[in-house]
Amino acid sequence: MKQFDRRIAVVTGAGSGIGRELAIACAERGMKLVLADVDPEGLSTTNSLMPSGIDVRTQHCDVSSFEDVRSLADLAFEEFGHVHLLFNNAGVATLGPVWSATPEDWKWVLSVNLLGVVHGIQCFVPRMIAGGDEGHIVNTSSAAGLTAVAGSGVYCASKHAVVALSECLLKDLELFGSKLKVNVLCPSLVKTAIADSDRHRPPHLAPTNPESAPFDRRVRAGMDASNVSAADVARITMQAIWDDDFYILPHPAVRLRVEERLRDIISDHQRHKPDNLVTTMDRP
Ligand SMILES: NC(=O)c1ccc[n+]([C@@H]2O[C@H](COP(=O)([O-])OP(=O)(O)OC[C@H]3O[C@@H](n4cnc5c(N)ncnc54)[C@H](O)[C@@H]3O)[C@@H](O)[C@H]2O)c1
Repeated sequence: MKQFDRRIAVVTGAGSGIGRELAIACAERGMKLVLADVDPEGLSTTNSLMPSGIDVRTQHCDVSSFEDVRSLADLAFEEFGHVHLLFNNAGVATLGPVWSATPEDWKWVLSVNLLGVVHGIQCFVPRMIAGGDEGHIVNTSSAAGLTAVAGSGVYCASKHAVVALSECLLKDLELFGSKLKVNVLCPSLVKTAIADSDRHRPPHLAPTNPESAPFDRRVRAGMDASNVSAADVARITMQAIWDDDFYILPHPAVRLRVEERLRDIISDHQRHKPDNLVTTMDRP
């Protein structure tokens, strides 16, 4: 897509981290914005960071709720008439060995990370297609959606599903001759508030997994060591939309891990390698 100015972007999870930086990057390029989050304070901070003169709407939206996402789409199309960039970005994380994940961990992570993207596609894409304009659906997955990471089975499962869903969406759009494109954003560790995801966890899905703490320490250390910021991720994402690059891998090292995994798959072999999350760290 070669024009951002005066076009319309919707960002979920815009109240913090990567979503906030995507919102700023869109605003800096002259886009009109609809920003959504479950966190009203985060959303209002993001709004306060918008350059002056930018047309912005904010809405409380829990992406795990189809009704919330449908009402977000209603707001965007009623206020601005069209959507050119849809960032299905909201996401949460849990940690711990796969066998320790609770039914509540599974329900919460899949309802936000996977169903949140599904709801975005269901509620926006038919109206974006009907509008007939060019546009992009940008789904935030993760390096964990392309590789396997110890202690992140639930999160990896949700993010692998987002990659598969994005690949299928692209094929469906091509089959139907749509002008819409898809990007799937796959960052590795970036310092944001995701390690504190539980802050927005619904009480009926409260965390009870005692085996998450050691992994939590590793992730926080990995984030502190990361040399890629959320603003870098947003800038690289906007460039990828411009260039129409489907896979967005802001951390170059992730390419090697993907290559290793694909080599393993075609050689029918899972090699014994050190865990690839933070290879220099001790086991928990
Ligand atoms: N930070 C990383 O290292 C990293 C790496 C790869 C992928 N990601 C992905 O990037 C995306 C953004 O995460 P982040 O790192 O900026 O974390 P973050 O916690 O800083 O931001 C996530 C935002 O999503 C919002 N949110 C949470 N649940 C929601 C819900 N049900 N509905 C709507 N909004 C909700 C939060 O309030 C928050 O504002 C996520 O999809 C995450 O999985 C992050």
